[in-house]
Amino acid sequence: MKKVLFVDCCIRRENSRTKELADYFISALRQKTEYEVETLCLMDENLSYFSDGFFEQRERLLAKGEFSHPRFRYAREFAEADKIVIAAPLWDLSFPALLKVYIENLCVDGITFGCGAQGLEGKCKADQMVYITTRGGSYGNSPLEMGSRYMEAMSVFFGIDTYTLLAADGMDEGVRAPEDILKDAKAQADEILKQF
Ligand SMILES: Cc1cc2nc3c(=O)[nH]c(=O)nc-3n(C[C@H](O)[C@H](O)[C@H](O)COP(=O)(O)O)c2cc1C
Repeated sequence: MKKVLFVDCCIRRENSRTKELADYFISALRQKTEYEVETLCLMDENLSYFSDGFFEQRERLLAKGEFSHPRFRYAREFAEADKIVIAAPLWDLSFPALLKVYIENLCVDGITFGCGAQGLEGKCKADQMVYITTRGGSYGNSPLEMGSRYMEAMSVFFGIDTYTLLAADGMDEGVRAPEDILKDAKAQADEILKQF
């Protein structure tokens, strides 16, 4: 069975429209018998950003090659998954800081990336990352939107070949009803799942 890691950063939990879209995607995915889904709800984790002793501990462990230390469990879990699905709303042109803290904990030289003859290279097993988001405004290819662009860059950095975006735009514009926007996004999810 292939393992899908679902990283949930939908801060508003059950009130979150991003969570509604992600739940649709994940429950359809669960119908596919070849996948088992492991959920990591970031709001339930006690994630720490790097400062002082927490940063220094990391440097000491990496210098000794102690990759089995519990603090590297997020990186190990991520590196071993066959597919990655991440859900987070657009906040302040990117995503909630909690997701950045998670990424900070994921980037471990020797687990999720390494340095080879050609320079930095990704070491993750997954062949696809799906990023699910909803946004208040509509961005198209605007450089203002940095959530998806950042996640796509991380996907390349981790050595994950295929990056797929599932986005519902214009949720707060008052032009279209959010339910209608989500309905279209769910149809887009069905298309993505055909290729998954
Ligand atoms: C703290 C915060 C920051 C936001 N920043 C942006 C933004 O920069 N651009 C935008 O278009 N919408 C922004 N929004 C609106 C959300 O992207 C939009 O409402 C989204 O659908 C929220 O997803 P959720 O229902 O999953 O929480 C922001 C909302 C919040 C609460």
